[in-house]
Amino acid sequence: MATGPYKDGMPELDADLAAGAPADTGARAPAVRARDLSKTFLQGDTEVHALRGVDLDVRRGSFTAIMGPSGSGKSTLLHLIGALDTPTGGTLEVGGVRLDGLREKELTLLRRDRLGFVFQFFNLLPTLTAIENVLLPGLIAGERPARRAERAAELLDLVGLSERAEHLPAQMSGGEQQRISIARALLREPDLVLADEPTGNLDSSSGDVVLGLLRRIADEGQSVVMVTHDPLAAGRADEVLFLRDGERAGEVAGGDPERVIAFFHGLAA
Ligand SMILES: Nc1ncnc2c1ncn2[C@@H]1O[C@H](COP(=O)(O)OP(=O)(O)OP(=O)(O)O)[C@@H](O)[C@H]1O
Ligand SMILES: [Mg+2]
Repeated sequence: MATGPYKDGMPELDADLAAGAPADTGARAPAVRARDLSKTFLQGDTEVHALRGVDLDVRRGSFTAIMGPSGSGKSTLLHLIGALDTPTGGTLEVGGVRLDGLREKELTLLRRDRLGFVFQFFNLLPTLTAIENVLLPGLIAGERPARRAERAAELLDLVGLSERAEHLPAQMSGGEQQRISIARALLREPDLVLADEPTGNLDSSSGDVVLGLLRRIADEGQSVVMVTHDPLAAGRADEVLFLRDGERAGEVAGGDPERVIAFFHGLAA
């Protein structure tokens, strides 16, 4: 019995998202394309302009870092790209598909089958063990648990936590929980990985492991968008984009932490 993501009655999505789709929406479409993207929150009577007209292009197989001060809109941007929230203005395409044209069920499938999330606050299920948390996206997608068992074990090993497989989140440090959440995001080899401060709670050697993993999956063709405060982490990306007050404040090529730091200081001046 086929367990592929689009075998159960989503023909419209099939046409746009499945492998082998037409060139304009298929393999050559950018991972992300945002134009004039805005998000305004209403807090009581006050409008909070979290994003104000952001343009963003993320190439397939690239690793993009987003930096900026606290409150500059980084998480908001990631949530919009991940279809966890809706923009109040502008357009957004993920994998060549405009999100505003999708129904709720299609958005759910997109999140489930094409995206991997590493949240700023890890969102592990407290009653599941580490390995069960890693396997969760497979179970949600209706896969047999055995299907990804090997992959889950491999990912736990890659993030250095094989020995914690049977631990509950409460029995793990923040950094360990974060690494579990990264393994979980990678389980189903999503086209696009969205990571909010994935190294924020890690010591430098665990952080290096995680960045190496993100770098590797991008080099292998998945796309990564990572929010970070750490110029060293951002330096591992292909491109670093800066936000300030909900707007793009600049961008610099990655690959060199010194260049990222210099640019950051230039912006703050
Ligand atoms: N659900 C919400 N309701 C109201 N305001 C919000 C909401 N989410 C975010 N904001 C506001 O939008 C702005 C951008 O928030 P966002 O979380 O995107 O910032 P950030 O760049 O991720 O910051 P940090 O580095 O602290 O995580 C902030 O002013 C924040 O208070
Ligand atoms: Mg944030």
